[in-house]
Amino acid sequence: MRRPQLDIQLKTPDQIEMMRAAGLVVARALRRMREAVAPGVSTADLDAIAEATIREAGAVPSFKGYHGYPASICSSVNEQVVHAIPSSKQVLREGDLISIDCGAVLNGWHGDAAITVGVGEADPALLKMAAVAEDAMWAGIAAAARGAAGGKGRLTDISHAVEHAVRKAGRYGIVDGYGGHGIGTEMHQDPHVLNHGRPGKGPRLVPGMALAIEPMITMGSPRTVEQADGWTVVTRDGSVAAHVEHSMALLNDGVWVLTAEDGGRARLGDLVTARQPAGSPAV
Ligand code: MF3
Ligand code: CO
Repeated sequence: MRRPQLDIQLKTPDQIEMMRAAGLVVARALRRMREAVAPGVSTADLDAIAEATIREAGAVPSFKGYHGYPASICSSVNEQVVHAIPSSKQVLREGDLISIDCGAVLNGWHGDAAITVGVGEADPALLKMAAVAEDAMWAGIAAAARGAAGGKGRLTDISHAVEHAVRKAGRYGIVDGYGGHGIGTEMHQDPHVLNHGRPGKGPRLVPGMALAIEPMITMGSPRTVEQADGWTVVTRDGSVAAHVEHSMALLNDGVWVLTAEDGGRARLGDLVTARQPAGSPAV
């Protein structure tokens, strides 16, 4: 069978250190936004926090100008799934569920990550969905780490682990048509990482690969539609969605979650590379 040739950029350990620096900028921006999320705060307010945090670190917001995208974050509220543009007119209300996606480029290397947060007191069922998306992301990252360590892992082992984690947690829609991606000197590189599918397919998972893993799930149907602004993706059935993302790299001795302040240690334990210093830098 003929397969499309993928152009996968493998990184050296030194280049992965550069990506870690970019990842920490994104992590800091997301932490500050998480702390700022509250009723009455607009999505433009969050965007301003992201841009200030990124520029203060000497980095550049990678979303801004990306195919003409006008902001530093995507802020997708409730039925918005991904790529919603922040606005001063969009003010958060008690009970909303917001997904914030943020990217930065520092010294030529990219970081990309997303979180989903409840506003004030949100419906526990929505918070559970956000936790399921997060668990699925970590399951995907762990599958990548195990696959690389064993030398037998393939790309869709990640996809399968994400899907399995979602399916075992309940009846959620797994959004199709969007997924994770390679990341490095560009925000989006080969390979595309599906959030569902059979394991054991696609390129081998090898040290030097850097991938963004980003499940998107909904309380209802997996079907989405893009709005007239050419960006905002919403669920077709109006159900609430969640999106989380980390950028990670595979090293010889384990995985490094570049956009997690602790490198992934709390969720992954020994699957995390020893290169990651035990006491992660407090920023
Ligand atoms: N961060 C998104 C992703 O994970 C892409 C954002 S698109 C942009 O792939 F236009 F907003 F930059
Ligand atoms: Co991404």
